[in-house]
Amino acid sequence: MDLKNKIIWITGASSGIGKALAIECARQGATLMLTARREDALEATRIACERSDEHRCLVHDVTDQESHAIVMSKILEAWGHLDMIVLNAGIGQRGSIEETSLDVERRIMEVNYFGCTEVAHAVLPHFLDRNRGQIVVVSSIMGKLSTPRRATYAASKHALHGFFEGLRAELYQTRIGVTLLCTGYIKTDISIHSLRGSGQSYGSMDDQHRDAMPGDVYARKAVRAMMRRKPVAYIGGPERFAPYLERLSPAFVRWLVPKVVTRD
Ligand SMILES: NC(=O)c1ccc[n+]([C@@H]2O[C@H](COP(=O)([O-])OP(=O)(O)OC[C@H]3O[C@@H](n4cnc5c(N)ncnc54)[C@H](OP(=O)(O)O)[C@@H]3O)[C@@H](O)[C@H]2O)c1
Repeated sequence: MDLKNKIIWITGASSGIGKALAIECARQGATLMLTARREDALEATRIACERSDEHRCLVHDVTDQESHAIVMSKILEAWGHLDMIVLNAGIGQRGSIEETSLDVERRIMEVNYFGCTEVAHAVLPHFLDRNRGQIVVVSSIMGKLSTPRRATYAASKHALHGFFEGLRAELYQTRIGVTLLCTGYIKTDISIHSLRGSGQSYGSMDDQHRDAMPGDVYARKAVRAMMRRKPVAYIGGPERFAPYLERLSPAFVRWLVPKVVTRD
């Protein structure tokens, strides 16, 4: 699929992967609805995109269920239709199960899981009416594996796979596609924004992300997968092979995982 003149809604477009995807989608000719909670940062994304005047920004919290229909109505008002939704908004975790409060667990599920499924509910009737559209989910290698101190985050991404693999099967007879981006370590502020067990932000960049694949490199690979309407794409460094390794030798991966992850 060519992105020229396609209308794309990207959630969590104010930083990191969402911003990089916005810049790359615009470079490929798409027109964008950019949403997130931080207005100034969203505006900075819009300005960084080619043909910046064509794109729109809207403050939107993915945990505010009523607001999804408002964004959708603004898209239809501005352009008459939507071609693609990129469900990217998300939050990381830094804490063991023991030290993570139940409120923080719920918060992570609200943003990472319901923040995708509820937006998908808001756009699906429109895609079904047109019998076309593409749903792109920014998932993680952690949607396939789990590691210490990231259990709730991994659970939220595993849950996305259950939901969106099921949705893809339900849409089998239609021209609506579902792409799951199984993302490895990418150089973004995710660790800074991650929640500790207490609910406080972690507040610092960890080594895994500082030395990881740059956002623009990720975005080029991800947008290629989106344009090819790939069902699943694994993008990142060597960690992207971990799910294959786990299938070949689950016992080895169970032994390895506690040894290679950091303490934070
Ligand atoms: N970086 C990695 O290594 C990596 C690896 C695998 C998967 N991912 C996934 O990639 C996605 C983007 O993360 P990132 O790495 O780009 O981190 P990031 O720089 O922290 O970006 C997170 C984005 O999500 C938005 N967001 C958070 N809570 C939100 C809410 N309640 N409502 C609306 N927007 C919200 C943030 O915008 P506001 O704060 O302005 O709302 C921000 O734009 C996440 O789903 C993450 O799980 C990242």
